[in-house]
Amino acid sequence: SRRITVRDIAAAKERGEKWPMLTAYDAMTASVFDEAGIPVLLVGDSMGNCHLGYESTVPVTLDEIVMLSAAVVRGTTRSLVVGDLPFGTYQEGAVQALRSATRLVKEAGVGAVKLEGGERSADQVELLVSSGIPVMAHVGLTPQSVNAYGGYPVQGRGEEAAQQLLRDAKAVQDAGAFAVVLEAVPAELAAEVTRSLGVPTVGIGAGADCDAQVLVWTDMAGMTAGRLPKFVKQYLQMRELLGGAAKAFAEDVVGGAFPAEEHTFH
Ligand code: KIV
Ligand code: NA
Repeated sequence: SRRITVRDIAAAKERGEKWPMLTAYDAMTASVFDEAGIPVLLVGDSMGNCHLGYESTVPVTLDEIVMLSAAVVRGTTRSLVVGDLPFGTYQEGAVQALRSATRLVKEAGVGAVKLEGGERSADQVELLVSSGIPVMAHVGLTPQSVNAYGGYPVQGRGEEAAQQLLRDAKAVQDAGAFAVVLEAVPAELAAEVTRSLGVPTVGIGAGADCDAQVLVWTDMAGMTAGRLPKFVKQYLQMRELLGGAAKAFAEDVVGGAFPAEEHTFH
């Protein structure tokens, strides 16, 4: 069996098939999702919040994304691995974007990269794609702009903002993006963008009519601490389960129940 490619993604839109995407930040978790048949894994800069302990995605470096993307590639055989370009590694222009994306492709072995922005990032998308690097774009709420937003507000509300979002999605499609993430966008607008694009939309907080859906894996699995956004569905209470296992181990050690005879060499 071979790896999923961007051609398979295009074919899925032709057939009207929906598909799932999850984030992954390490080889072992990635191997679980690969075996579960998740076709696309994103090494998202959400690693900043949920893997590296930063307050936002802003501090994440290219070295960090390259290291963890390489781990995800090593842990998988089927999934298309998409590496996220972190803040400050593509905003200077197309040449900087190409230099950064080239590191992800050569050093980590990803099959595609992702970057944030619509019209503002179209030049970057165009040079990467013409250089042979598939690009997933990301419009609507772009978390690397948290300091400009002053939070994580829903995007595309109101006629003017809706028109801008449509222009942004079209711009990155026309520049050659193979898919477009729509984050925190009203469902009706996301449906309109999805109908008007020839490439798949990947929704997160963007309603049921996108071609694909993505969740941050630690949110999906109930590993993330604290309050979660409205758009998250938890499929497991992993934080509680893992904490329970750690407490049981601790009790066994303190009480002398572990190691037992069967765990012991003589
Ligand atoms: O970094 C990330 O996890 C993302 C997805 C939420 C799309 O960009
Ligand atoms: Na991201």
